[in-house]
Amino acid sequence: MDIQSFQQKILSWYEKNKRDLPWRKTTNPYHILVSEIMLQQTQVDRVIPYYLKFLKSFPDLKNLANASKENLLNHWSGLGYNNRVLRLQKLAQLLTTQNKNIPHNEIELRSLPGIGPYTAKAILAFAFNQEVSVIDTNIRRIYIHELKLNENSSLKEIETLALKCIPKGKSCIWHNALMDYGALVLTAHKTKIKSLSQQSNFISSDRFLRGQVIKILLQKKEITLEQLQEQFKYPNTKEILAKMQEENVIEINKNKI
Ligand code: ADE
Repeated sequence: MDIQSFQQKILSWYEKNKRDLPWRKTTNPYHILVSEIMLQQTQVDRVIPYYLKFLKSFPDLKNLANASKENLLNHWSGLGYNNRVLRLQKLAQLLTTQNKNIPHNEIELRSLPGIGPYTAKAILAFAFNQEVSVIDTNIRRIYIHELKLNENSSLKEIETLALKCIPKGKSCIWHNALMDYGALVLTAHKTKIKSLSQQSNFISSDRFLRGQVIKILLQKKEITLEQLQEQFKYPNTKEILAKMQEENVIEINKNKI
């Protein structure tokens, strides 16, 4: 599908089906910041009441900077990962003591506590409508599916293509639309595309088996494929061994490793 049809498909779907989320009614950078920190490890439905209450009690950076830790933790209680709110307050204190507002660029944003590459880009897109590519699990899945990319494409490769897909002047709406389309239509279940965390689990389990194979061979000198499969019950033992053979880490002779 060409880029223009892809944009049209997503935007016209969004026009009819968008979710009514409170942080979409604002471009106030502080409000967007609070929403993105809350959404880092927590589901949308759970975040909504916390977001509304938090902003009522701490309506701006100054209020947040001056709040007691106890009061902050009370407002966060139930959202989990309490460190997030402590870092958020640190950020507010850093900015207010320097008389600064929330920065408009990625480098400065990323220098602040609790803000990684994803959150920095989300703030730039949702608060400042800047043309940066925001890629979370849902959005990554849409690009892979719609642009027919390899599932193992690096984030950098996806990001390069993603940048070309942002409709001019519509970064905010585009990324909101992608988030909804990924959450409601092109779900993980539908596409079978693995999330990045599933992929890294997969990679680390490969590493585990590789480590075990080497340990066994150092002790016993040889083992058979069947013995390994019996012992570890990994679905992709054969592939991992083939790779190790290719790298000259092991030798396979008939069935003996
Ligand atoms: N997850 C992270 N940021 C989000 C947003 N702005 N809207 C919906 N889900 C999100």
